[in-house]
Amino acid sequence: MSARERLRQLKGECPCVLPSMLMCDFTNLEREIRRLEDAGVKGLHLDVMDGQFVPNFTYGLTIVEAVRKLTDLPLDVHLMMNRAEEYLKSFAEVGSDIMTVHVEATSDVADALGKIRGLGVASGLALNPSTSMESVTPYLDQCDLVLVMSVPAGFGGQSFHEEALTRIASLREQGGKDLLIEVDGGVNSSTISRCVTAGADLLVVGSAIFRQESYQDAIRNLEGLVQQA
Ligand code: DX5
Ligand code: ZN
Repeated sequence: MSARERLRQLKGECPCVLPSMLMCDFTNLEREIRRLEDAGVKGLHLDVMDGQFVPNFTYGLTIVEAVRKLTDLPLDVHLMMNRAEEYLKSFAEVGSDIMTVHVEATSDVADALGKIRGLGVASGLALNPSTSMESVTPYLDQCDLVLVMSVPAGFGGQSFHEEALTRIASLREQGGKDLLIEVDGGVNSSTISRCVTAGADLLVVGSAIFRQESYQDAIRNLEGLVQQA
């Protein structure tokens, strides 16, 4: 399946929960992916961190490639790194379906988004809570997705920033109907409904899945709240 087809498939499932693999058990990656597939997830969110743009260091191309070999689910790759532009082709080649760059870390945003689309991948633009909305609005036409960070990028397990809700609502109004709006950070059973009501399509969830005993129960509960919102 091509990245475009996977994106179409994912759009048909929105609004939906995307597990962030940051906190998964990497000693059992295949088993973790099967557990998530069995729980019915619609895609996976992969957090690439370079230890420079953000203080945390996670993984890069080899893990994205490994995940691609283990699943047909859409892969939503969140690039928290400097000079992401130089690696877009490589992240596309290892199987990314959506690639999101940070507006704060990208010198030529229009060029980066154009490159992503040129690679046949969905283009995403992320902004941190402290970054102004005006820094992303000029690029909405070139975005398939805008990622509203509801915590400062870098670590899982942080508390949700309420201002994200206003941002989601304003993007819903300003962006075209095809624009996907994603929210990431501190999304859990107390915050998820409000994100959906504000207009979010993709709800990224880390600790509220991976720190729970049963991923299946956690995902069912969150998906239930999404459907009711
Ligand atoms: C944070 C990452 C998130 C993170 C979410 O910088 O982009 O994807 O894993 O984790 P929780 O849901 O625990 O905030
Ligand atoms: Zn993320």
